[in-house]
Amino acid sequence: MSIEETLRAHLPAPLFAAARRVYNSRPSAVRARRGHRLDTRAGRAVAEAAGWTVARGPFRGMTYVEAYGDLGAKVLGSYEEELHETVEELIAADYGTIINVGAAEGYYAVGMAMRCPDARVIAYETSPRGQALCTQMARLNDVQVDVRGTFTAQDLTTVGDDRVLVVMDIEGGELPLLDPAVEPALAEADHLVELHDFVDPSITPTILERFRGTHDARIIRTRDRRPADYPELTAATARVLDEHRPCPMEWALLTKR
Ligand SMILES: C[S@@+](CC[C@H](N)C(=O)[O-])C[C@H]1O[C@@H](n2cnc3c(N)ncnc32)[C@H](O)[C@@H]1O
Repeated sequence: MSIEETLRAHLPAPLFAAARRVYNSRPSAVRARRGHRLDTRAGRAVAEAAGWTVARGPFRGMTYVEAYGDLGAKVLGSYEEELHETVEELIAADYGTIINVGAAEGYYAVGMAMRCPDARVIAYETSPRGQALCTQMARLNDVQVDVRGTFTAQDLTTVGDDRVLVVMDIEGGELPLLDPAVEPALAEADHLVELHDFVDPSITPTILERFRGTHDARIIRTRDRRPADYPELTAATARVLDEHRPCPMEWALLTKR
């Protein structure tokens, strides 16, 4: 139970409402709400200006829908820019099956389906809203994406392909999921996984150790954006370059030897 739910359960309703008003009016909360409003406005402005079509990067030309987050960066093509070269390498590697875990509205799932027309693309997303958006975006871009719910590592055993790429971003859930000692099929696939060490600093060393005997590992670090690369941005919309990461982060590309 969250602190809010606990207080709601134990305080008389008028007292709870007053406490919530005080909590929500503290300066940091007011600033956060204002920042969120400005981000939303900037994201929509960038999307409208680009005709809801991704402007650059590996998924250039993809028609976009409402995003879970980072709408402006995704349509601008600055989203996870540090992965662009890696994504191009993965496209060229010609996988038979691409599995996107934590697909949200489908930036990677639909993008990879567009760029890899011969691959079977499966998008796993727990949230029904994400599943609906991903289905909609696949339809808009005229590609086939098999949209499913929550991924478990055992799902890999049903794929029946020996050239599988898993693209994973699940906010720290990668640690329990990516364990070939629990599910050996994980050792047969390649993985591009976002590492959320701010949730648990043991994530990167543990995952690298688990795959050390079977996979080559490459670490890719976040880097600062250069506003000059995006001349269409204005003072108000340049804020879409901020992907609101709590700290510098990394991805691991794990390639089967
Ligand atoms: C940070 S978001 C992913 C953002 C996405 N990579 C993008 O580029 O837009 C993480 C998502 O993972 C989903 N998720 C978490 N665990 C999952 C699981 N085991 N299977 C499928 N989706 C999961 C959450 O619902 C959430 O939408």
